[in-house]
Amino acid sequence: MVRYELRRRLMSTEKHQGDLLDHFIRDMNTENFITEDFVVQHMFGFLFIIFDSISTSIALALKLLAEHPLVLEELTAEHEAILKNRENSDSPITWEEYKSMTFTLQVINETLRLANISPGMFRKALKDIKIKGYTIPEGWVILLATSVLHLNSDKFENPLEFNPRRWKDLESSVLAKNFMPFGSGMKQCAGSEYSRVFIATFLHVLVTKYRWTKINGCEVMRSPIIRFPNGLHFKVSEKKN
Ligand code: HEM
Repeated sequence: MVRYELRRRLMSTEKHQGDLLDHFIRDMNTENFITEDFVVQHMFGFLFIIFDSISTSIALALKLLAEHPLVLEELTAEHEAILKNRENSDSPITWEEYKSMTFTLQVINETLRLANISPGMFRKALKDIKIKGYTIPEGWVILLATSVLHLNSDKFENPLEFNPRRWKDLESSVLAKNFMPFGSGMKQCAGSEYSRVFIATFLHVLVTKYRWTKINGCEVMRSPIIRFPNGLHFKVSEKKN
């Protein structure tokens, strides 16, 4: 479909709104590396990145919070305290408020640790790499399975437990090499901070305005990204204070 739309626009003379595909088309005229295949693969990648990533993390947070009422209570308390300190409780979240959401960010980290949408990240061996008696030949593609690293019991006690409080004691030197939900180095996720802010904002509205209970279909599987084979069904109702 993306290829069809790209070809249709390349042949048409009509003016568009200037969406991402139009930017690619404009750049195809000046940048040789932007070929038809490049555009199709990137458009597909972007659609996946934008549609699946944050929504999956939020769905998981909903499930984990519904199953852990004490965590939900602490999270709600953090957000209600923010509302209490505001002059107008309906005013938008400020940067200072976001920075004060310590426990919320621990909940987000713990959700990303337990079930990150991405199974890992790809790298290419630029030269032969010798490791534990094996050689990864130059040119091979390597999948660094960060989703496995995040369940390492040497670094995360009871790794399958949803315990946002663990983040209080984890040292940044340990995390640098053992927690990479957004990848690492120069290829690191361009949307990492945006994603954290988005999820924190969503949780703020959710816990202050709504309550929810799990109904059924909460099975989670990885193949290779996170999937909910039977969906996730919640009953959501507005909070009446
Ligand atoms: C919870 C949400 C998300 C997670 C867990 C996530 C995770 C990742 C991971 C693991 C990578 C590979 C990084 C590497 O190879 O080192 C990546 C790359 C990328 N992500 Fe995200 N992502 C998320 C949301 C987003 C969003 C919302 C956007 C855009 C608004 C985005 C844009 C990108 C881009 C452009 C790259 C490629 C960076 C490059 O190759 O230079 N991501 N992401």
